[in-house]
Amino acid sequence: MKIAIVTGASSGLGAEFARTLSSFYSVDRIWLVARRKDRLEKLAKEIGNGVVIEADLSTSSGLATIESTLAKEKPDVKVLINNAGFGKHGLFSELSLKDNQGMIDVNISALVRLTHSCLPFISSGGVVIQVASSAGFVPLPFSSVYSATKAFVVNFSYALAPSLRKRGISVTAVCPGPVKTEFFDVFSEGRNAVSGPMASASAVVRKAFRDASRGKLISVYGIFFGLVVFMTKLIPLSFIVNRMFNAEWRSRERWLKKKR
Ligand SMILES: NC(=O)c1ccc[n+]([C@@H]2O[C@H](COP(=O)([O-])OP(=O)(O)OC[C@H]3O[C@@H](n4cnc5c(N)ncnc54)[C@H](OP(=O)(O)O)[C@@H]3O)[C@@H](O)[C@H]2O)c1
Repeated sequence: MKIAIVTGASSGLGAEFARTLSSFYSVDRIWLVARRKDRLEKLAKEIGNGVVIEADLSTSSGLATIESTLAKEKPDVKVLINNAGFGKHGLFSELSLKDNQGMIDVNISALVRLTHSCLPFISSGGVVIQVASSAGFVPLPFSSVYSATKAFVVNFSYALAPSLRKRGISVTAVCPGPVKTEFFDVFSEGRNAVSGPMASASAVVRKAFRDASRGKLISVYGIFFGLVVFMTKLIPLSFIVNRMFNAEWRSRERWLKKKR
């Protein structure tokens, strides 16, 4: 059986990846992975060929749920989309260790383990999509661990791609700027953390699938963020990050003053 696996399918980009997948790839089933089962069930009904896998990817038992299903069904994994992830906004020392560690567990450890566990089931023509972020290129000083997890995903994708290409499998790291999803409910707990415009999930996903089908390693949606990523090759990161830090620090001071 030909399948696709989409993690973090209960909302935002993941749900959109699942909805759009059949326009780009022919698979029998789409495994929908996340913690919120009710959301996954609704989506499975909507797309018609979804299979719900309730799993907390921050836990070993959650990851084992997917691995045991793979071992039992031995599917032909045509598309793997490691999309589940979350970010937290705040100074490193102000965020809890649980949050900082949690981002590493879901954004890095789960992605690495699932990629490794799925590879024996991916044959030539298969596609691996790793959802990173533009923060993987431009570290956000008020989201240091989040940015570092996404830099890991970018670099992991760069390093993994050549060996998988030898097996006829493509790797694409998706690196969007801000996207209108529930991400920011968790990231800044409702506080407006983005001043500029946000991309729509459907535009980012369509661009990601187009880039993946061309075998493009890095997928960046929009001219602005394409330029941002390009500029990181020309301007020292410390210069960019210090300027971002100072601007955000000043705005935070103003916000705190108003709150007092
Ligand atoms: N939105 C943006 O601006 C933006 C920009 C760049 C990159 N990204 C990346 O895009 C990806 C998707 O984010 P989104 O914007 O679509 O946000 P979202 O709407 O909040 O979706 C996040 C998804 O990840 C799942 N998830 C989180 N923790 C999980 C866990 N422990 N176990 C299993 N699933 C978990 C959530 O499912 P449950 O809560 O149901 O488990 C949800 O389906 C993330 O990797 C994010 O870092 C987002």
